[in-house]
Amino acid sequence: MKTIQVQLGERSYSINVESGILRKLPSILSGQNHGQKWIIISQYNLMELIGFGLMSDLNEAGFKCDYITLPVGEAAKSMNEFSRIISQLIEMKCDRSTTILSLGGGVVGDVSGFVASSFMRGIQYYQIPTTLLAMVDSSIGGKTGINIAEGKNLVGSIYQPQGVLIDPDILDSLPREEVIAGLGEVIKYGAIHDEKFLNNISEWLDDIDSFPFAKAVLRACEIKAEIVSLDEHEGGLRKLLNFGHTVGHALEAHLGYGKIRHGEAVALGMKCAGWVSSKMGFMSVDENISLTNTIDKLSLPHVSKVDPNTILSYVKKDKKMRNGILHFVVLNTLGEGNTCDSVPDNLIKESLKVIQ
Ligand code: GLY
Repeated sequence: MKTIQVQLGERSYSINVESGILRKLPSILSGQNHGQKWIIISQYNLMELIGFGLMSDLNEAGFKCDYITLPVGEAAKSMNEFSRIISQLIEMKCDRSTTILSLGGGVVGDVSGFVASSFMRGIQYYQIPTTLLAMVDSSIGGKTGINIAEGKNLVGSIYQPQGVLIDPDILDSLPREEVIAGLGEVIKYGAIHDEKFLNNISEWLDDIDSFPFAKAVLRACEIKAEIVSLDEHEGGLRKLLNFGHTVGHALEAHLGYGKIRHGEAVALGMKCAGWVSSKMGFMSVDENISLTNTIDKLSLPHVSKVDPNTILSYVKKDKKMRNGILHFVVLNTLGEGNTCDSVPDNLIKESLKVIQ
């Protein structure tokens, strides 16, 4: 088992990465079992695939484990679902000692984490991510949240889990295109923080069938853990994790959620941000070509009908705007991200040409 520490003083925790780790959950968690209720929050299909097995292993080992399911998709991140889960926890006679096991992708992790942060003013939870995106990003760092009519993730908290348990073997059971799309977020870590990792990913992508997912997940988690340990509340360094996300989120909003995968939108957003970086003189043209070549190995969708003004209007509504200033993430060089507060609007619009 590989263990990575997120160093946050009293709130420190480990990310455990190991093939087949889920079968060992009873022994891994036994030291934390004091007779309290353990509630798996997941989706029904995931319960059938993984969760029911997990629950019976835990119950056989003397845990009191039950489960709650969420609907599939972004609809689960609603105020209604949030309050339904809280009511269900109360019905199940859960209390302050209850521990949540969040089993799923980003949506499940965001909702379960927010439930954990607010039920009885905060209870313990573990993240057990089941998608590549959740493994390398959303399960680490404690960002939780739900959507409201006015926008995504506008209600939430930063509330750290007790631990993150990652079984990279789960990726074998997912649709291939889904996993490959998630590699956009993995490339991001190389681009902002580790040129050698970026070069490795680029080589690995030449033979996607033997892509070493476990290795890539591990390195991405190390980088995320390092960044969160240094800047939990996104005062500076953590902002770099938004590389590619400014245009990426705008693309998702413009094309319609569910029309493009998040990892794909981020990958396209990184191409735009790379172009902006070289155009503004941060990164060389050659470095941008190298980044673009790596991203293009993902076979991304074509987005021919993107209106630059609409994209810009979504960019202006982004949560990354603070006091009217957009903190756009650029690359100084490959492997070194930075924020730039003075990217002209027309450059953002012009950058869209590289993805059309
Ligand atoms: N997903 C970006 C972050 O955790 O900060």
